[in-house]
Amino acid sequence: MSVHASEFKRITTKAVITMKERGEKIAMLTAYDFMTAKLVDEAGVDIILVGDSVANVFQGLETTLPVTLDEIIYHTKVVRRAVKRAMLVADMPFMSFQVDTQEAVRNCGRVLKESGAEAVKIEGGKRIEPVVKQLTDIGIPVMGHLGLTPQSIYKFGTYEVRAQETTEAKQLLEDAKILEKAGVFSIVLEKIPSALAGKVTKSVNIATIGIGAGPHCDGQVLVTNDMLGMNEQFHPRFVRTYANLAQTMRDAFQHYIGDVKANKFPLKEESY
Ligand code: KIV
Repeated sequence: MSVHASEFKRITTKAVITMKERGEKIAMLTAYDFMTAKLVDEAGVDIILVGDSVANVFQGLETTLPVTLDEIIYHTKVVRRAVKRAMLVADMPFMSFQVDTQEAVRNCGRVLKESGAEAVKIEGGKRIEPVVKQLTDIGIPVMGHLGLTPQSIYKFGTYEVRAQETTEAKQLLEDAKILEKAGVFSIVLEKIPSALAGKVTKSVNIATIGIGAGPHCDGQVLVTNDMLGMNEQFHPRFVRTYANLAQTMRDAFQHYIGDVKANKFPLKEESY
């Protein structure tokens, strides 16, 4: 376990709120496969998200829209086998919760039952209030997601910073309060001005988790593949790269290929 991990043996919704109350920052990362999830969990991250960003970093898709409920359940099941301490959150994909409340509740229930996730993440503000109320009522913890919500990319038209104008900023603050009242235990704030994220964080008693939302949030989230430097084509300002895995992996592959071609692998001691 990392020296930075909080004292909690297992992260629950209660632990997340307690961390906010104590001013203890919450660290969240994504995972989509067993081995990465194991390393992320052992490092001491607080929340692991099986994000619909699986579309971009695993499936090679441009947007998150094509991701299916079955795919999220599959990846969450795989990640579940590795995660011992972190809270495991599954992202509800596009069209799994938008049609009506009953269908949304059924789909979220399926995710918890079949994948072992402990909570679901749902994009949207006031529009998802009835779904959040029903889910929390029946015991399904919900993480909200405001600001740049990638499932609405065709409405926004760009991946630019959201809520820079007063009307959208006011609406976002209002949405955060509505979600809190409806029962979410935390909200992801994606790509919004730092000052607004700070204002939201002060205005609610639930935890805010920022991505491209500055330092005033209660916690931070990054897409694991991005922070590991696996995607050399993606360099937004909010991603700090903690490793250069693309180069490390390329070097290793080339080294191996060279060894095979030069008949340097396998050696006697690597053979039976
Ligand atoms: O899908 C995802 O990885 C996300 C995070 C960026 C919060 O929604």
